[in-house]
Amino acid sequence: MALLEVENLGVRFSRRDGPGVEVVQDVSFSLEAGGTLGIVGESGSGKSQTVMALLGLLASNGQASGHARLHGEDLLAMKPAALNRIRGDRIAMIFQDPMTSLNPFLTIERQMTETLQHHRPVTRREARRRAIEALERVRIPDAARRIGMYPHEFSGGMRQRVLIAAALMMEPDVLIADEPTTALDVTVQAQILALLREMNRERGTAILLITHDMGVVAELCDDVMVMYAGRAVEKARAAALFAQPQHPYTAGLLGALPRLDAPVGAPLCTIPGNPPLPGGSATGCAFAPRCAYAFERCHTQAPSLRDDGARARACHLPADIALQATPGVLV
Ligand SMILES: Nc1ncnc2c1ncn2[C@@H]1O[C@H](COP(=O)(O)OP(=O)(O)O)[C@@H](O)[C@H]1O
Ligand code: SF4
Ligand SMILES: [Mg+2]
Repeated sequence: MALLEVENLGVRFSRRDGPGVEVVQDVSFSLEAGGTLGIVGESGSGKSQTVMALLGLLASNGQASGHARLHGEDLLAMKPAALNRIRGDRIAMIFQDPMTSLNPFLTIERQMTETLQHHRPVTRREARRRAIEALERVRIPDAARRIGMYPHEFSGGMRQRVLIAAALMMEPDVLIADEPTTALDVTVQAQILALLREMNRERGTAILLITHDMGVVAELCDDVMVMYAGRAVEKARAAALFAQPQHPYTAGLLGALPRLDAPVGAPLCTIPGNPPLPGGSATGCAFAPRCAYAFERCHTQAPSLRDDGARARACHLPADIALQATPGVLV
């Protein structure tokens, strides 16, 4: 049994001025103990709402459907108090902006020790010792002194490391990281990814990483799920997906990666066009307006996600077609 098994997850938001919108539809994936899964897609594709749904953190107008089993227990069917016990303990989270998880008015010590004492029977003194040890592990210099500081006294990269330390300290089974490096410069980004990798390799923490950046997936993930307009469009082992994308959108994302052989100063390539707004009534494949491979059927019939066991894809093209990993093939 997988550690986390998500089945037919849907997220729907109700709106006062009209019908509700489905921003996540029929998403299924599993994360093995010690595994690393990347969920990748452009902004607005439903990545964050997917994990917010699992954690019971949707906005009040949101409603999740489907199943999300952790150790066989369905998180979506759990009472809030039970879910609260799991969050921050067996599942830890880090977000793009660490300030959303840190209280600006409390010292790092208080925030770290309170979380630990909330979930574990440890004394204040022992909690402090473990917190300092965790800060040292993520290489916060002079941790014993800095633990007494407030979040604003840390840089953005250091705050993200503090959150990783707080997660490390809890020894969770799963760490969910939602765009953890997006706000950071490249050097700090690499340090944070190295820390996550260390946590995964040394402690066996399973990692669910959300990103819009294929480069970040390549650094960390063994498995990938690509999302477009609220649905999974391709799922595969990362190595296989990078070697040969089987969905034109994946190929476009790979083509949008900066290339080492690009001339200096060349603009970063991105996929032309924009993803559809959620709740759109378009028939056919949601990617068709941006897809250079689109043919007649794509505009009338939505491709379903077909899974052959090793990989899954939602596209009418034959699986063995050689897609070019360049944005140039996308119009
Ligand atoms: N409370 C809400 N009410 C209505 N729509 C929402 C709400 N929260 C998020 N959405 C919409 O859900 C869609 C998916 O958002 P999100 O999962 O945050 O995307 P991603 O993380 O992939 O960038 C977006 O179109 C967003 O506008
Ligand atoms: S189904 Fe058609 S439009 Fe959609 S990704 Fe495949 S080729 Fe492109
Ligand atoms: Mg997001």
